[in-house]
Amino acid sequence: MKFIENFVPELVIDSPGRINIIGEHTDYNMGYVLPTAISKKIVFKFCRNNSQDTCNVYSKTYDVGFTVNLAWISRSKTEWENYILGVLHEIGKRSDKLQGFDCVIDSNLPGGSGLSSSAALECGLAFGLNELFSLELSKRDIVELSQTAEHTYVGTQCGIMDQFASVMSKKDHVILLDCTSLEHNYIPVDFNPYKIIMLNTNVSHNLASSEYNVRKAECADGVAIIKKSYPKVNSLRDITRKMLEEHKSKMAGKVYDRCSFIIDENKRVIAAAEALKTNDFDKLGTLLYMAHDGLSRLYEVSCVESDFLVDFSKNNPNVLGARQTGGGFGGCVLNIVHESAVEDFVASASDAYLKKFNRSLIPFEAIIGPGTKVVSQAF
Ligand code: GLA
Repeated sequence: MKFIENFVPELVIDSPGRINIIGEHTDYNMGYVLPTAISKKIVFKFCRNNSQDTCNVYSKTYDVGFTVNLAWISRSKTEWENYILGVLHEIGKRSDKLQGFDCVIDSNLPGGSGLSSSAALECGLAFGLNELFSLELSKRDIVELSQTAEHTYVGTQCGIMDQFASVMSKKDHVILLDCTSLEHNYIPVDFNPYKIIMLNTNVSHNLASSEYNVRKAECADGVAIIKKSYPKVNSLRDITRKMLEEHKSKMAGKVYDRCSFIIDENKRVIAAAEALKTNDFDKLGTLLYMAHDGLSRLYEVSCVESDFLVDFSKNNPNVLGARQTGGGFGGCVLNIVHESAVEDFVASASDAYLKKFNRSLIPFEAIIGPGTKVVSQAF
């Protein structure tokens, strides 16, 4: 695109990806999650271009770009553009101060890997435009409008975890977030002598967005059945194991399994938060294995590659726990590994994975970092 030839940014924003320690698919069921931002991120460089409504957006990572007029925003056939367009649309509903801008996006955060590159893209853009045009949006506004953009323009009926983690995280802390009230506690964490090692299966979750919405609908089916006897129930968050068992015979087997997983997963999040507060990493590891088992058997959002890696880690006493993280169907497996064994573990897992699937995995250490932030500002 022409504008990049003489591009001098006025504003640079870091927008991080996230890991979720535990609590998968609980967010849109109004339960608990335990995520935090990591140092892998999308970097946004912005400049006002003195036009009323011409916006040029260029992705350096993929060497593609597009131009949009703020007066004529509609969904695109090109998937990644919808993350941008959705955010511009949502900002337009909240403010009339937005004007033309140029933006260059660069990233070391792999897409489709369960690390929430979607939320990083949405929130980084919203955060940057808020600074650039003094839109006076709060962080909470940025989180919520980004989530809405994903619902309406991208079409994934996601919960709030990813956007919340990307914007609100603090370095060296995880967030215990209640997705009903959005009340949240920052829990300081120091995993020493363990490290969080991510093994990216390199299997992209193409199915994820359609299957994701199916899972959400199945949970809603379960809630609707139980609500007939318990009218005060509004989400799986309000449903106890006893209520679920009472209604088992009225539900399809899959609906029962989905609900069963969510009820247990919420309990695991609270238990994991306690384990983190007391540095009980053995307990945390056990909870991760239990969570993966549920993701795989009951919620059915795992895949053979993730299952293989989780099983592989079980043979290594230096790995305390492992589970697939994010929306599912591939992406990254999160492992808690003793620092002395990281090198061996990564080498043996990579080897076994290559032999089994004829595909390389990509390992990296997750470093817990801050939420979205201004890196530099020249105005
Ligand atoms: C995706 C969604 C989140 C959450 C996770 C699963 O990342 O964007 O809202 O539901 O999947 O926990």
